[in-house]
Amino acid sequence: MPRLGCDYNFEQWPPEVWVEDMALMRRAGVGLVAVNVFGWSELEARPGEYDFTALDRVVELLHEAGIKLNLGTGTASAPPWLTRRHPEVLPVTADGTTRFPGGRQAWCPSSPVFREHALRLVEQVAARYGNHPALDLWHVSNELGCHNALCYCEASAAAFRGWLEQRYGTVEALNKAWGTAFWSQRYAAFDEIQPPRAALSVRNPAQLVDFQRFSSDALLDHYRAEAQVIRRHSAIPITTNFMVTAHIRNQDYWSWAADMDVIANDHYLDHRLPDPVAELSFAADLTRGLAGGRPWMLMETSTGAVNWQPYNLAKEPGQLLRNALTHVARGADAICFFQWRASAQGAEKFHSAMIPHAGADSAVWRDVLELSATLGKLGEVDGTTVAADIALVFSWESWWATDTEARPSQDLRYLDQVHAAYRALRELGVTADIVAPGTDLSRYRAVVVPCLHMVSDQEAAAVTNYVESGGRAVITFYSGIVDPDDRVRLGGYPGAFRELLGVVSEEFAPLLPGASVPLADGGEATLWTERLRLTTATTELAYADGRPAVTRNEFGAGEAWYVSTGLDTPALRDVFERATAHSGAEPAPDTEVVRRGPFVFVINHGSKDIDHPITGHELVTGQTVTGSVTVPGGTVRVVREEA
Ligand code: GAL
Repeated sequence: MPRLGCDYNFEQWPPEVWVEDMALMRRAGVGLVAVNVFGWSELEARPGEYDFTALDRVVELLHEAGIKLNLGTGTASAPPWLTRRHPEVLPVTADGTTRFPGGRQAWCPSSPVFREHALRLVEQVAARYGNHPALDLWHVSNELGCHNALCYCEASAAAFRGWLEQRYGTVEALNKAWGTAFWSQRYAAFDEIQPPRAALSVRNPAQLVDFQRFSSDALLDHYRAEAQVIRRHSAIPITTNFMVTAHIRNQDYWSWAADMDVIANDHYLDHRLPDPVAELSFAADLTRGLAGGRPWMLMETSTGAVNWQPYNLAKEPGQLLRNALTHVARGADAICFFQWRASAQGAEKFHSAMIPHAGADSAVWRDVLELSATLGKLGEVDGTTVAADIALVFSWESWWATDTEARPSQDLRYLDQVHAAYRALRELGVTADIVAPGTDLSRYRAVVVPCLHMVSDQEAAAVTNYVESGGRAVITFYSGIVDPDDRVRLGGYPGAFRELLGVVSEEFAPLLPGASVPLADGGEATLWTERLRLTTATTELAYADGRPAVTRNEFGAGEAWYVSTGLDTPALRDVFERATAHSGAEPAPDTEVVRRGPFVFVINHGSKDIDHPITGHELVTGQTVTGSVTVPGGTVRVVREEA
């Protein structure tokens, strides 16, 4: 069955509770438990003095209960003695402010001192538990870069310079890449270069992008250093928990994925977004993309409210199950929660858990048992893969480059544009693979390229060649504009895709908030317009005054569409339907239909019952369905389809 798991912060509880917890975990069918994620100050209360008594005991209790270990290296947060003795490990923000201990993750990713101490702990933990029969997975640090991704201290500055020397070789090459002729920024030597610290005016955007790349690499390097130590003692798979989510953008996980033995993601519904449930689906699909299409694990999610949003909403009845099964539908083979037992103290005391403050006589606990029982019925789904025939290209580099300090409109945000495209596809009933720029697209029926602002020649060629040999692509505005040095591609927008799209845009013409431009079909365009000229393309959707808004260009054996303006979801959905030659039926409103192997997940987010046409064996109710399955409001059905 897809595994059920959790974080177990046993350090917060007395040993009597551990024993009770083992019994409850067994009752809930918990099969995988993350321990020692924040254990450092307990294991090494004073430098070099290790005490594993409590961890040993909990590991044995779990083992006796038949529960597997997802073992943290314990390095996520440094103990107080380390930052007191070595304040130089503390991270520094762009304006030069030191971030003090008192929260968590108060360490600079490039600090050699932190690294040395962390690896010493990893050595101890790996040597002690590396061959333990309960050990199933290594959990390096925790959410690397959640808080400390960008550090501007002197150690980071030195590491950044080293990284730049490696990338560019000569300072002349760097000057060229960064366009330092602008505003008298020319460097004579690498040692003149600083991280992009807070400045009086807009900072060099190419430097900002390189600092993002460097910072992502610095944390990956930390991961590799810990993993190397583990490997000397243990053959068990190693991973760390990614944060594929809307509010974290500092790690280019495309470059991290190959280092992970298993892809693991943490995901929480984000109620700051217009459509949190659609974002969950997007994050799950992107995680599957990082896993190369193979099954992955949800390392953390919540049973109810989190504690870090402005308004921390409880889940509605049934929502826990719907959210979890959406992850399973989109490729997850394990669902793990943060955390087992709600903390009574500390910064997360109002974060939900599998056992809430109210205890086991609670609706949340009963929801957990229901989820466990349902996962128990989905054993056949394990290991199967999602087959998608449409791809959506996603790029962290374009995210960094788009959301930079000076841009045509501050309302133009990369992720908004990606989410808009994703939502339109989802409403159409399309399950998309989320792929990296430059991926071979030949196996897809159609490809959607939203706001791919920063694109290399090869990445652009991957789209162009795909269309030339018969593919269908839809590209949305602000794509193809700059090369990987953040240099504008001259000759008219959309630069790298101009010829493919058969258009030239001479000028961006973004709109003020609340402003709109009427479209010929009665709709309205918002946010963005362009002064667009057709070279070989034809107009598919015009503004009311006849100027082109959406275009189509036959190119080689295929065709490429350009969406040059901000459309609402129904309009974008119509464009995608035509441009991708989509023929399937749209799902019922508020319903998500995803196929994984022979299994069709029908997730009814609405309150009304729906009927979905299908024949086969339904796993949740254990019934045979012929012609259609009824999915009561708020529930999920999973049908093994039979022709
Ligand atoms: C994650 C983190 C956990 C916990 C959780 C709360 O960021 O890994 O330790 O803080 O969020 O939602």
